[in-house]
Amino acid sequence: VPVAVLASGTGSLLESLVAYADRTDAPFTIVAIAVDRECRAAELAREREVPVVERRLGDHPDRAAWDAALTDGVAEHDPQWIVTAGFMKILGPAFLGRFGGRIVNSHPALLPSFPGAHGVADALAHGVKVTGATVHLVDDGVDTGPILAQVPVTVEAGDTEATLHERIKAVERIALAEVVAALVTRGVVIDGRKAHIP
Ligand code: GRF
Repeated sequence: VPVAVLASGTGSLLESLVAYADRTDAPFTIVAIAVDRECRAAELAREREVPVVERRLGDHPDRAAWDAALTDGVAEHDPQWIVTAGFMKILGPAFLGRFGGRIVNSHPALLPSFPGAHGVADALAHGVKVTGATVHLVDDGVDTGPILAQVPVTVEAGDTEATLHERIKAVERIALAEVVAALVTRGVVIDGRKAHIP
């Protein structure tokens, strides 16, 4: 099953998805990587000879034009599912209209706690003893879609945002790849706010 990944960070989640897709029994292939800037994720994609769709917000007159250009660029590769893995932009109506219901995101906190772009720092600042990773379907909110999987990560004394985030990403990378594999194989049942992979 063809999957496109939206990434624009250090690409560690992308790397785990690409590695998983390379398995002989993998139920999905990565057909394209979309980024909104030059980044390690784009370099990784080029190294692995995966097509890169680069759509910089600044190259477009407004957000709607960027949204349309990103949507068209990704749609060219006919993905069945979209994974956002460190893509730090809110997806627009064109993209959600085209791929809505088939977009999976990974967030480095236990939603609904600590949504947004600083979930790791916010959890640390709040003094929680346990945080973790959440894999969820994307809806038109920010980190608000139906939850598919969660993995706890203990906060340790002396943790900084960086050390805690690295420990979260270590479990996040596994959870995300396994959820994507299950989704493309068995689909998902939505019951109100809840999602269930049969
Ligand atoms: C991940 O923790 C993801 O949940 C968050 O940003 C991080 C991306 O890491 N949105 P990387 O860029 O894949 O290393």
